[in-house]
This record gives sequence, C-alpha cells and structure tokens, in this order.
Amino acid sequence: MSKLAPVSIRISAPKGVYDVIGADTVRWDDLETRFFETAATWGYPRVRIPVFEHTELFVRSVGEATDIVRKEMYTFSDRGDRSLTLRPEGTAGMVRCFVEHSLDQAGLPWKAAYGGPMFRAENVQRGRYRQFHQFGVEAIGVDDPALDVEVIALGWAFLRHLGLVELTLLVNTIGRPEERARYVEVLADHVRKAVPGLDPDDEERLELNPLRVLDSRDPRVVEALATGPRLRDVLGDESRSHFGAVLDGLDAAGIPYEVDDTLVRGLDYYTSTTFEYASGTLDSAQNALGGGGHYDGLVEMCGGPPLPGIGFALGVERILIACESEGILAEVRGTVDVIVLHVGETAVPARRIAAELREAGVRTDVVFGNRSLKAQFKQADRSGARVAVVVGERDMERGVVTLRDLDTGEQSEATLDSVRQEIEEVIGS
Ligand code: HAM
Repeated sequence: MSKLAPVSIRISAPKGVYDVIGADTVRWDDLETRFFETAATWGYPRVRIPVFEHTELFVRSVGEATDIVRKEMYTFSDRGDRSLTLRPEGTAGMVRCFVEHSLDQAGLPWKAAYGGPMFRAENVQRGRYRQFHQFGVEAIGVDDPALDVEVIALGWAFLRHLGLVELTLLVNTIGRPEERARYVEVLADHVRKAVPGLDPDDEERLELNPLRVLDSRDPRVVEALATGPRLRDVLGDESRSHFGAVLDGLDAAGIPYEVDDTLVRGLDYYTSTTFEYASGTLDSAQNALGGGGHYDGLVEMCGGPPLPGIGFALGVERILIACESEGILAEVRGTVDVIVLHVGETAVPARRIAAELREAGVRTDVVFGNRSLKAQFKQADRSGARVAVVVGERDMERGVVTLRDLDTGEQSEATLDSVRQEIEEVIGS
C-alpha cells in the first residue's frame, strides 16, 4: 500500500484574535510591566486568576440581561458536562477569588491588580476583538469615596505617565438599585412617549435593561434623553453626598473630569460611581481605553460578606492604538545588540565569545549554517544588532577579533580579553 503524503492545509487564526510579534511584543510587555509596577507602587500587588470559570459566575455577576451574557460569551461543556465560560472580564473572577480565600480576614480593603486575556464574541473592528487583553485593579471591603478617588487616580496616573494627552475622564453615579428602579420607570415612560416607533434594539433594551437606552445612538432617542429625567436628580442624600465627595476628591487631586449623565456601562454589577478613560484618538464606539466603577452587591451575591468594591480595567490593545495615534510608541531596536559572525574554521571560538557575552547579559545572536561573509553581514543588518563581532582565522591566531559598528560601518580590533568591555561601551550597557 502506498503511503499518501499528508494534505497541506493553511489554517489561519480565527476571526477577532491575532498574533503579537516582534516590536509589538516588546511594547506590549513593557506596557504590562509598567502597569503592574504602578499598581504595586500604589499598594495593589498582582494576583493571577483563571481564564475560565463556572458560567453561572458571569451570568449572576455581569448580569443575564447584558449583551455580554446574552450574546458574547464563549461557553462550553467540559468533559464532566459542567458549563464553563472563558472569562469575558476579570472582576467576577477577582470577587470569586476574594470570597473563596476569605481574603477579608487579612484586613480591608483588599487591594489587588490582575490582567490577561479576556474573551467576548463581539463584532470585530479596530479596537474591538474577540480575544483582547486587560489589566486592572480591584479594591474590596471599604465604602469610602476616597477609595473611589484613589482607584480612578491610579488609572489616570498610569495613562498620563505613558504620555497620552488626548484623554478625558468621564464620571457618573448610577445610585443604588432601588433608586435606579424608580428612575428606569420614569425613563422608559419618557422615551416611549417622546419617540414613537422605537428601533427594535432600543425597545429590547427598554424591556430588558432600560438604563442601557442611555447608550442609544438613535438621534431621536439622544434628543429625547437630553430633555428627559436625569438619574442624578432622583438620587437620595447618601448617593448624592458620596458622588459629591468623589468629585471633591478628584478636584483636590488636580484630576480634570467631565460628569457624563449617560455613562451607565455595560455590566450589571455597578452601583454609585462609574467612570471611563476616553481617548480622542479612537472612534467613539471604541474610545474607552478603560472603565470601571463601584459594585455594592457583588461580593454578597458571590457568597461573601456584604462588602462593597471598586475597580477598573484598561484595554491593552486600545492603549497601544492610542499611543500609536499620539506618536508616543517607544522606539524598539532589534531583538539583539550583538551578532557574532565567523569566517573559516572559527565556529567554535565564535560560539564561545557569544556564550561569554550572553553570560554577561548582552543580547547576542550567532549565525547558523554555512554562509559567506557577505550573506552573514546581510543577516547582521537585518537583525537590528548594533555591533557585529567578526571572528576570522588569521585574527584568532593573533588573539583579536574585528568589531564593526553596524550603524556607522566603522571597524576596530579588540583583543579577546577586551571584547566584552568594548562592546558594552558601544551599546551603552
Ligand atoms: P469593560 O468596560 O467591559 O469593563 O472593559 C474595560 C476595557 O476593556 C474597555 O474600556 C476596553 O478598553 C477593553 N475592552 C472591552 N472589550 C473589548 C474588546 N472586545 N476588544 C478590545 N478591548 C476591549 C470591564 O471589563 C470591568 N470588569 C471593569 C471593572 C473592573 N469594573 C470594576 N472593576
């Protein structure tokens, strides 16, 4: 029987996911490192939580009526027929972690940072993907407007220190659930009267999650909302004074903000303060670099004590897009600083020199295969390295190598003992 060669099929990545390669990886890692360093400086150490959880956790916390739960979750049954879901966001998992490990015992608030891939089956466009990445913080256990201010200020400071200037902080309060319940009745009534023949999407929102009608893009609804009842006007004293204290705190910290009455956000667990960091460089539908808010009932809903929480998450991809648009992406040189070339029978000493440089922490590559010196120099140029070390047979007999500055083309000789030092002088490490 003849053996058939396997059929060659090119399989591309699924829609809405992508690979991070080359300079993008360096910028990505740098952004992540800076975020977790900033968070740690503010007293939010990193925790790592799983990428999938029981589906029920997200249905209960994010909310059955939200777009995320109704249309966007990647849910599957495992081999034991349990329903699991790839996390669409991190707050639910963080709260589950807090409750599961009784972290309230260690003193409150419990403050922590987290990050990683999140999954939502959304309509894909620039800044909106199916696997995307967030990092964020949560602070659980203390009801103090000053903690809201700290959390908002941390995200703001991080984004500003990246050098972003086209940034607007939007803040709002959506009050307590009972205040909201009173408001949505009046709101639904007002919108239905003002806009006969509502678009089916908005009608569905009014049925399932009336507050989300504040996100409507229908100009008739937008106009009706401008003259309609405002949630802020129906809030009780406690909610008003909490929000007032948050705004005072932001003023005192010198953080500019806009109060946006329509900022309700797409997750059901929020109560009182909500906020977003919007970038002027992205389309308005995807202009949130991050967002967050206060959640009063979530810890209890997840089986824990009745403790409030506040946090935010930032979108890594959107931040990188905003940095690119504002021209502040860091220059990334090649992945190595030095490349070692060899001529004739010098592969062994060339590898030894490379090993010594790597041992000293110098990013070093070598050339593989049997190539001409010309081909090796071509590879050296492509590598992005700053210096090429050329190890030649005759030079080695004299105990020297040639160093070539790949930017200027200048060449010099170095003794085997001084190679490392001379290279470090050129690359400044
Ligand atoms: P969120 O507003 O759903 O909030 O997501 C936060 C950020 O993640 C967004 O502002 C955006 O930058 C990014 N993001 C969301 N969906 C996508 C997507 N499909 N593609 C690319 N980026 C996306 C939350 O997730 C809450 N857990 C935030 C929070 C933490 N609230 C309290 N604590």
